[in-house]
Amino acid sequence: MTRRVAILISGSGSNMVALARSMTGDHPARAVLVASNDPTAGGLAKASAMGIPTAAVDHRAFHGDRAAFEAALVEHIEAAAPDIVCLAGFMRILTPAFIARFKGRMLNIHPSLLPKYPGLHTHQRALDAGDKEAGCTVHEVTADLDAGPILGQARVPVLPGDTAETLAARVLEQEHRLYPAVLRRFAAGDRSPVLLP
Ligand code: GRF
Repeated sequence: MTRRVAILISGSGSNMVALARSMTGDHPARAVLVASNDPTAGGLAKASAMGIPTAAVDHRAFHGDRAAFEAALVEHIEAAAPDIVCLAGFMRILTPAFIARFKGRMLNIHPSLLPKYPGLHTHQRALDAGDKEAGCTVHEVTADLDAGPILGQARVPVLPGDTAETLAARVLEQEHRLYPAVLRRFAAGDRSPVLLP
């Protein structure tokens, strides 16, 4: 049975594009919705061009009422009846109620080797710490920010002269490999971690 995947974005959606492109052929899942908290998110046009239904709920219209924003967003998500929700560059903190609704079937990609550097500015923090490697993690979303069960990781070297921007670009390349690999395994019911060299 084909698993239905909703992808939530806030920006360019490069991870969404990688995920959507991967769901073809004998892949056990298909993208059924791309939704954003920002109606101007570049990823929405990319999703439409790929023939994927889209939705946008501007979180700014809710003036900080997180629950009201999520209620509007959930309406669009539930209308698509997803089996799996993928956060892909989605930059809003979700309430425990939202997370509970998709417990065990909501994934996120984070640009660090969790549990190192949850939160923001991960690449600069790795550079400041003098780390010799960095990377990205796909994890199940739980109420603890960036702390759910790890479903996959990919590592990259930190090179002399790296800036947060050059490191981010190197990590992003691996995100586009890791997330599709994790989703394919997860959609097939396998939660064993994908560890990319
Ligand atoms: C990526 O670095 C991802 O790890 C983070 O958001 C950034 C942008 O992702 N969560 P995308 O290009 O919008 O997919």
